[in-house]
Order: sequence, then structure tokens, then C-alpha cells
Amino acid sequence: MGAAIAREAHDRGYEVAVIDLTASKDVPWRSFIGDVTDEASLIRALDELGAVPDLLVNNAGIVQFAPLLDTTTESFARTIAINLTGAFTMARLVAKGMVERGSGHIVNVTSTAGIATSPGVNAYVPAKRGLAGLTELMAQEWGPSGVRINAVAPGMIDGGMSTGIYKNDAARKLRSSAVPSRRLGREDDIAQAVMWLDSDGASYINGHELVVDGGVTKAVMSLIPRD
Ligand SMILES: NC(=O)c1ccc[n+]([C@@H]2O[C@H](COP(=O)([O-])OP(=O)(O)OC[C@H]3O[C@@H](n4cnc5c(N)ncnc54)[C@H](O)[C@@H]3O)[C@@H](O)[C@H]2O)c1
Repeated sequence: MGAAIAREAHDRGYEVAVIDLTASKDVPWRSFIGDVTDEASLIRALDELGAVPDLLVNNAGIVQFAPLLDTTTESFARTIAINLTGAFTMARLVAKGMVERGSGHIVNVTSTAGIATSPGVNAYVPAKRGLAGLTELMAQEWGPSGVRINAVAPGMIDGGMSTGIYKNDAARKLRSSAVPSRRLGREDDIAQAVMWLDSDGASYINGHELVVDGGVTKAVMSLIPRD
């Protein structure tokens, strides 16, 4: 999803830089190595970049499926560290310059899993719900300095960390049929949402979590059998 966002931004004329655990090869954007749980590595990458970005997208994330009773505190904390604390660290490092400059936009990638929970999704639920709350808090603290902070909550996306689930054709069909739009989401749906939130037309949107899910998260009652 990060690559889809980077590609769309690049195609629209943004100068794009990506920080990830490994370097990307053969991409038309700058690639830096960094780990969102290692603040020093992020500082090194930002120093090398040498500029305060106009748009920061906090997209790094992991999910570890397991029942809570089988989950160690360490594993729980790791999911929180990457999805929630990592986004905070990165945002804080970048927002300082944005606040001083008086402009900037941060988009945090959350998940509908943080809105409508299901068993086994584990620390990902509080991590993503927490990131949505953090988005609101950042908007309140940094909004008065001309910075916007929003979130995009992808629903069931055919790609990235969900690739394994949708290799199974029966799972694809079943899940697609639960979505009012009758299809899974594409990584490009998320890229388009991020770009729209960053556009001038969205300049009065701040502290908002934009759900991009084909309508499924609010459709739970349609899944309940009736007489
Ligand atoms: N795919 C989905 O169905 C889906 C649905 C809702 C939300 N999301 C969210 O979208 C975002 C992107 O997910 P994806 O599906 O593309 O998954 P992905 O696994 O393909 O990509 C996640 C990226 O995060 C990076 N990453 C992991 N740990 C990191 C760390 N410690 N420091 C820096 N980078 C790290 C990985 O290297 C990878 O490039 C995540 O935040 C995820 O929670 C995905």
C-alpha cells in the first residue's frame, strides 16, 4: 500500500521519499532505511533527506493474528510499538518542522479493524483505534499552527498484509459479497484517498478518519439473518 501511495504521489508530481526496513530498488523515489521503533534510524533518514516534508504518510504496520489468551505481553507490545508508537515518533519528528513552518499534512493509515473488531485480530485493534484517537489529538495540538492531521482507514484490501487471505478464491467471494460495493478494496483506492485528503479541496478537513471500505464496516446489521 505504501508503494501504491508513493507511486500515485510521484505520478502527480510530488517528490517522494520512503522509509522502510529495507531499501527499495528500481523505484523513481528516494529510499531510506529506517525502523519506526528505532528513533535514531528515523532521525538519520530525516537528516539525510534534509527537508521538512509537506506530506507525511504513516503507513508502516504489522498484524499478528492470535487469540488474546495465547498472546504474550512482548508480542502485544510489538504490534503497538510499530502501528501506534512508531506513527507517534515519526509524526513528532516531522511535525516540529511543520509547526515551525506553519504548514504541513500528516496522514495516518489506520484500519477498519480498529472500528469493527473481530476475534484474533489482537493488539492491532487497540493500536489502530489508538492511532485514530492520536490523529484527533494531533489535529488539536498542531492544527492551530497550520498543520492538518488525518487518517485513512482501509477496509478489506486485496494486497499487502492481506495477500494470503485472498489467495483462497472462496474467501475472496465470501468477503466480497459482504461488501455493499461488492468488491475488495485495491491499494490504489487508498492511494487516491490519501491524495484527495492532501488536495486543496480537503483543506478544511482536520482530525478526520476517512473510512475507505466499500461500505462494509457500517453494514454489519445486513449480515445478521432475519426471519
Ligand atoms: N492490507 C490490508 O488489508 C490493510 C487493511 C487495513 C489497514 N492496513 C494498513 O495499511 C498499512 C500498509 O499495510 P500493507 O497491507 O501494505 O502491508 P505490508 O505488510 O505489505 O506493508 C507494511 C510495510 O510496513 C513496513 N514495516 C513493518 N514494520 C516496520 C518498522 N518497524 N519500521 C518501518 N517499516 C516497517 C514493512 O516493511 C512494509 O513495507 C498498514 O498500516 C496496515 O495496518 C492494511
